[in-house]
Amino acid sequence: MALKNDQDTVSIAIMGVGNVGRNFLSLLSRNQKGIRKKVGKDIVVSFASDSHGIYSVRNGINTEVLLRAKEDGRLRETGNKVELEDVFGESPDIIVDMTPATPDGVFGMGMYVNAFKSGIDVVTANKSPLAMHWSEVMNSARINGRRIRYEATVAGGTPLFNLIDYSLMPVEIVRVRGIVSMTVNFVLDRMLHNLDFEQSIRMAQREGIAETNFHDDTLGIDSARKTVIMANSIFGSNISLQDMEFDGVENLSDRIDEMKRSGDRYRIVSDVYRKGSEILASSKLQTMEPLDPLVSLGTSSLCYLLETTDGSKYFVGNIRDGPLETASAVLNDVMLIARQRA
Ligand SMILES: NC(=O)c1ccc[n+]([C@@H]2O[C@H](COP(=O)([O-])OP(=O)(O)OC[C@H]3O[C@@H](n4cnc5c(N)ncnc54)[C@H](OP(=O)(O)O)[C@@H]3O)[C@@H](O)[C@H]2O)c1
Repeated sequence: MALKNDQDTVSIAIMGVGNVGRNFLSLLSRNQKGIRKKVGKDIVVSFASDSHGIYSVRNGINTEVLLRAKEDGRLRETGNKVELEDVFGESPDIIVDMTPATPDGVFGMGMYVNAFKSGIDVVTANKSPLAMHWSEVMNSARINGRRIRYEATVAGGTPLFNLIDYSLMPVEIVRVRGIVSMTVNFVLDRMLHNLDFEQSIRMAQREGIAETNFHDDTLGIDSARKTVIMANSIFGSNISLQDMEFDGVENLSDRIDEMKRSGDRYRIVSDVYRKGSEILASSKLQTMEPLDPLVSLGTSSLCYLLETTDGSKYFVGNIRDGPLETASAVLNDVMLIARQRA
């Protein structure tokens, strides 16, 4: 197994090999050469886990074989089953969290804190630990001198935090408005085009947009979690999901006919801005102005408008955002940390 003091490799523990995790493995497998060139090291998988357990991946198994094993339901054959404690003990360089969001985010928060204490950095696509326990996670990273990157938690592969960290360093952001959750807006759009809620969800599932358990999305919780992360990361707040006002699209039956008749466009919009010394954050159903750039792209896209103190407005969007784009954002974060460690 490649461990953290191995000079030529950065070792990662992959938690979750679902839609995002499989795309991550595929990208890793296809881009090894380019990664080595850009990072100066190979990225090797030391641990891989799914809902059945964590496996200490046998030395020499490459990412393609790992991916095939997961797709064939044979992940357990790739190594010995271990406990999370063993991962901390072995101390890979980076834990990559691609597990599903849990309602309280406690498991993820505990995993990150223990990782930091064990000298491990974290890359995550999982919103819950950050939306529910921002300060605990960030304080632990700081105290232990470790890094955490979370580009994929908000609007999948559409760059936001890395853009702000690396391309907009001289500016101060005063407002972020964005369409950050595809499922809820796709379903809303279908409902405005005469499908009922169930038909809209089925269509979103056929398109591969909605998960089997879609309620986090359609109740607006997913979008609200992302808004919390934006407020905390970009504006330095310390809010949690409980502090948020948010809308979903499950209870619109008494309004939908009137909304259709109006001919207006509606979206669930995340909005975070500074008002005096206060930071206001919401994720609400809004009527969109026809020329609002946030409705200039299709309903399978995600986008933001960033406004700065000097009046600049940056519009960032991804025409189609899904597990592949999300996995690319996760791999980018892994590469950024790997390069810093190198
Ligand atoms: N899909 C997207 O486009 C997207 C975009 C942005 C962010 N995200 C976030 O990325 C994360 C992964 O999303 P996804 O679409 O890949 O989800 P997914 O398809 O449901 O995959 C989740 C993976 O985690 C595994 N898992 C479940 N519980 C686990 C546990 N306790 N320990 C270890 N592994 C566990 C599952 O195991 P099994 O394979 O055995 O079921 C599966 O491999 C989620 O937090 C999601 O919110 C996803």
